Amino acid sequence: MAVAALEKESAEMASAANPHKPAVSIKGLDVTFGGGEGAVTALSGISVDIPQGSLVTMLGPSGCGKSTLLRAIADLVPASAGEIAVLGRTPEQARKERNFSFVFQDSTLLPWRSAIDNVRLPLEVGGGGKAHAEPEALLELVGLKGREKALPAELSGGMRQRVSIARALVTKPKILLMDEPFGALDEITRDKLNEELLRIWQETGTTVMFVTHSIPEAAFLGQYVLVLASHPGRVKEFMPIDLPYPRKLKLRDTIEFVRITAHLRQLLEEC
Ligand SMILES: Nc1ncnc2c1ncn2[C@@H]1O[C@H](COP(=O)(O)OP(=O)(O)OP(=O)(O)O)[C@@H](O)[C@H]1O
Ligand SMILES: [Mg+2]
Repeated sequence: MAVAALEKESAEMASAANPHKPAVSIKGLDVTFGGGEGAVTALSGISVDIPQGSLVTMLGPSGCGKSTLLRAIADLVPASAGEIAVLGRTPEQARKERNFSFVFQDSTLLPWRSAIDNVRLPLEVGGGGKAHAEPEALLELVGLKGREKALPAELSGGMRQRVSIARALVTKPKILLMDEPFGALDEITRDKLNEELLRIWQETGTTVMFVTHSIPEAAFLGQYVLVLASHPGRVKEFMPIDLPYPRKLKLRDTIEFVRITAHLRQLLEEC
């Protein structure tokens, strides 16, 4: 399928969805690891609604529970208390229905499979049946047309992350959970992928939750920034970023942008 067809189909899917129902609704979530004296309360009393189709970035000090929050949504760690609804389903149901995909910090590609075969992998592992995107069109969407046959070792770190993003999109997830996906990349590559992620987000209509340690990255990408405080992990602020899309990198030189990052820095210092 050509990219244009993919975009049209995604836009139709997005408009068919109820924009008023949150993509992810979290109420009073606690996550505690271990028991007894060694118990660690990673998250305490988290309540937040992630609007459908939004791009929410997450900031907070190391250990405040950002990864744990994404993992709880993805059914990778259990909630100790409270509720998580993913498009009205439990995380387990949402996982089985493939409503979300996860992108990790280090690309987790299989080294012996080509780029295109890595993108195809979720379709082979989870069985067919459900509608899916064409791997070729996805590699084109992430700017890797012509590199379909390359092995991961033949690609740069940034290219490998692009393949990971294409792989995450192949099941047509309604929600993309991204845990510091560009954290290991040099600044120029990261900037480029930031712009590309915004383009992909706008073209696919997917809800994105994106963890980062970079204040400028959080402000540049996010429609909202969820700031978490630590010990225990809790919501410090859910801040709308009132800057229009499409956003280009030079936005970061504007006074509005600098004001927003200064406010976020202040919030983080208080965490
Ligand atoms: N599987 C686990 N078992 C026990 N404790 C855990 C587990 N996973 C996370 N924790 C603890 O939960 C807390 C939150 O960890 P988490 O990895 O979610 O933080 P984070 O905000 O993602 O940090 P970073 O920014 O360094 O990635 C930490 O105290 C961590 O030690
Ligand atoms: Mg983490």
